[in-house]
Amino acid sequence: MKQAKIIIDRDFQVSRIDKRIYGSFIEHLGRAVYQGIYQPGSPFSDEQGFRKDTLELVKELGVPVVRYPGGNFVSGYKWEDGVGPKEERPKRIDLAWSVVETNEVGLNEFADWAKKADTEVMMAINLGTRGVAEAMELLEYCNLDQGTHYSELRKKHGYAKPHDIKLWCLGNEMDGPWQIGHKTAEEYGRLANETAKVLKGIDPSIELVVCGSSYSTIPTFGAWEATVLDHCYDSVDYVSMHTYYGDRERDPETFLANNLDMDRFITDVANICDFVKAKKHSNKTIHLSFDEWNVWYHSNEQDQALERWTQAPHQLEDVYDFQDALLVGSMLITLLRHADRVKIACLAQLVNVIAPIMTSDTGAWRQTTYYPFWLTGKYGRGLVLQTQVDVPTYENKKYGQVPFVDCVVVYNDEAQELVVFAVNKNLQEDITLDMDLRQFGDYKLLEHVAMHHADLYAVNTEADPAQVVPTVSDKSSVENGKLTAALGKASWNMIRLGK
Ligand code: AHR
Repeated sequence: MKQAKIIIDRDFQVSRIDKRIYGSFIEHLGRAVYQGIYQPGSPFSDEQGFRKDTLELVKELGVPVVRYPGGNFVSGYKWEDGVGPKEERPKRIDLAWSVVETNEVGLNEFADWAKKADTEVMMAINLGTRGVAEAMELLEYCNLDQGTHYSELRKKHGYAKPHDIKLWCLGNEMDGPWQIGHKTAEEYGRLANETAKVLKGIDPSIELVVCGSSYSTIPTFGAWEATVLDHCYDSVDYVSMHTYYGDRERDPETFLANNLDMDRFITDVANICDFVKAKKHSNKTIHLSFDEWNVWYHSNEQDQALERWTQAPHQLEDVYDFQDALLVGSMLITLLRHADRVKIACLAQLVNVIAPIMTSDTGAWRQTTYYPFWLTGKYGRGLVLQTQVDVPTYENKKYGQVPFVDCVVVYNDEAQELVVFAVNKNLQEDITLDMDLRQFGDYKLLEHVAMHHADLYAVNTEADPAQVVPTVSDKSSVENGKLTAALGKASWNMIRLGK
């Protein structure tokens, strides 16, 4: 059997984990908002029309922050359409997704939903068709207490207290030619800086995310970040990153290696931030907000055949399989291994649209990808330890030498637990993982939870929602201060140790 060896030391730490690394995203897109979180008249909904079954699953997931309202949608959005009496709200075309937006849900309803879901709002601003003035007005409406036009308007709309939203995105994917109001790096950098300055002038307590690249291989990557940051380094706090992977070729060995692209992307963007830092002789470090990441490809073909200008159609409804759950597990490991730079990350998205949670008129269920996201978010708290990993590799035409095992070790100093997250990408063989526990020599095995399925393409559906679920594994032991665990072939694993 192949062997992976891990060495850890309590004093060699990467960083404390910012819990916002387990964030998610809800866009006005498909059935994410309408039918996903909001469906008045449904037997599953509460008095405000919010789906209680969705709320329960979102609370179980424990997402600390949810980005809203887009995505591509935000670049053509007028936030004023979604506030005030519902019967007066206009129906608009949403050019980003070729649908009709009814505006029944707007920022006030979303803030109410976020409270019920025990999460914070990460608000995205339209810098596609709109500019500095509308951004200022939106922040005034959301965060100022009283006595000004927009704060009083919010009060008139029934919201006496400010929403006090702390995290703001300066537009969405402004580097992408598909984006409504797409800009060059020069144009966007200047606009982002001017917007950032006035927003912080209105509320200095907020944090701002500036748009980085939409994916690592977009031709403007690198130059985009450097130019944009040249303009706004001093006025923003995070650079955004987005990535989605797919497996159209049915080539699992390449698909499962895609987190190597994510890993390199993070390193590259951090280096570019530090290049601008050095150039500006600055003491400030810009952190990363990986605010869209996931697998996305299953639904592409059917979405191309969609009729235009309908309301809340089935769009981007990827049905995730077991190998998607493995890659999501690996991407989470990659994000954690970069916890010193990645402070915010959003699994895109949360409900019905490329989502871990699905709903229908008859219920809600968990997709395969729900489980690694849920368990990593629940137990991956505290400090990421530096892991020296010695693992066998496989040769891949796209990525070269790919480690068979992705692994990260988290020390939860509050709960006094050591948690190992590991994915075995070897599709043929189990791999033994050996870890010298050093200062944790008195820790015992609490549990080894694993996800494995004989069929990489097995899925969970409403009719059969428990095809792919985690189970308890008895293949780990701790003896003489050493952990030995068998990582089943093609498996996601979480091994918890404690006193
Ligand atoms: O999450 C789906 C879409 O992907 C978002 O609207 C956009 O920002 C990205 O291209």
